[in-house]
Amino acid sequence: MVQLLDEVPNIALSPLYINLCVHSRALYTFLTSLLMILQTLLLSVPVLALKLGNSHDSICDAANTVTEGILDYYDGLRYGGTVGMVVEPYYWWQAGEMFGLLLGFVEACGNDTVKELVHTAMSLQLGEDYNLMVSNYSSSEGNDDQGVWSLTIMEAAEAKFEEPEGTLWADAAKNTFWTMFNRWDSECQGGIRWQIFPDNNNGYSYKNTISNGALFTLAARLGKLNDDKSYFYMADFIFSWMLDIGFIKENDDEMVVYDGGSSENGCKDVGTDHWSYNYGILLMGSAYLANATGEETWTLRTLKLFHLAKGLFFDDGVIYEQQCLDLKTGKSTCNNDQRSFRAILLRSLARTAQLVPSLESEISGLLQSSADAAAKSCLGGSDGHTCGLNWSEGKWDGMYGLGEQLSALEAFVALA
Ligand SMILES: *[C@@H]1O[C@H](CO)[C@@H](O)[C@H](O)[C@H]1NC(C)=O
Ligand SMILES: *[C@@H]1O[C@H](CO)[C@@H](O)[C@H](O)[C@H]1NC(C)=O
Ligand SMILES: *[C@@H]1O[C@H](CO)[C@@H](O)[C@H](O)[C@H]1NC(C)=O
Ligand SMILES: *[C@@H]1O[C@H](CO)[C@@H](O)[C@H](O)[C@H]1NC(C)=O
Repeated sequence: MVQLLDEVPNIALSPLYINLCVHSRALYTFLTSLLMILQTLLLSVPVLALKLGNSHDSICDAANTVTEGILDYYDGLRYGGTVGMVVEPYYWWQAGEMFGLLLGFVEACGNDTVKELVHTAMSLQLGEDYNLMVSNYSSSEGNDDQGVWSLTIMEAAEAKFEEPEGTLWADAAKNTFWTMFNRWDSECQGGIRWQIFPDNNNGYSYKNTISNGALFTLAARLGKLNDDKSYFYMADFIFSWMLDIGFIKENDDEMVVYDGGSSENGCKDVGTDHWSYNYGILLMGSAYLANATGEETWTLRTLKLFHLAKGLFFDDGVIYEQQCLDLKTGKSTCNNDQRSFRAILLRSLARTAQLVPSLESEISGLLQSSADAAAKSCLGGSDGHTCGLNWSEGKWDGMYGLGEQLSALEAFVALA
């Protein structure tokens, strides 16, 4: 296991620990006071601004600082913790999101320690059948969890990340696609459900955009990677169903994306919430298809998705989760999951800028202004690497969590 002990771990400052090593009481007292002074000094070092220059090095420095904050939430670095899993109250899906983003950091900035940590974690979470059905989590595993993880595996395949033992990243991604697609059923004339198992009453009778959208994007990326038209056909098939059932509404210049509907009602009760990750996941798949097939339809859909996402999720160029962060009151009702959704949209935007060059300059502007704002938000906490939720605040807003860190990491990596 990789150890990341650049920071002074708290345990080293614990008097109990010292007691075990030092037998002399006087020396013990002396050392304890010395350590207390040192600790105070360390904590009182004024935290300077997280500088975000234009150079690659400066951007990677910022990404590095934020990554240190992310690893605070990694269970695999804790004594007795699980490799590949995040600490409570975060779920397995967010570990999948986290390793995908960390892999992006490694690709953009290079960091052998993090690279090895990511490789070990991802290899261990592939599941016994290499299809991301992991027995530890399978009782609560949902299609969205498996879907988000599958895109992380896909990222590894595309990046030619060192292959895991027992399989290839691309094969695991294919296995996952077919495992998930086999759950397609006739309620709502198609689609996969939010949850996998009938006894999981937290969404078995809900069909949603994130689960089907992840499957769509996985198909698009598998098609491009393997130059295999049958996956483009699958992607089109899944997207068409989402249009037919009303999860997506297309008009002349926009594409509206809703969250999902109840399978018991034939999905006739589609809600009208707009979440950034739903837009992000469909944008990414569409951009891959536009790039790989060259079809006008997909380019147009990419433009329409981008157009509305830009209108909904940016305030003066700064990305925010408009569904749960109220612009007028500044009040947040965002839960732990929702606080990380922006990371997915940012990642999709960065990828779209590469795949659909006509959008590059417009997207770059949004990424730059969001990253500038994030840098001002990432100086929080006693550790000085904690990022907040509202990046328009001009300083840390007192909010913290894995979602805030992941979103900020992607804001920087997107520029690197
Ligand atoms: C690699 O990343 C970790 C976590 O952000 C950081 O503590 C470490 O300093 C980095 N190593 C290098 C060589 O940049
Ligand atoms: C499954 O859980 C056990 C016990 O917590 C842990 O030791 C093991 O590493 C976990 N496996 C995975 C793949 O998370
Ligand atoms: C974020 O903070 C700024 C500055 O206080 C405020 O104007 C804005 O409304 C807040 N944004 C959100 C989405 O809460
Ligand atoms: C497809 O994406 C690549 C970058 O990944 C880009 O260089 C190329 O121009 C794109 N092709 C089209 C047709 O947009």
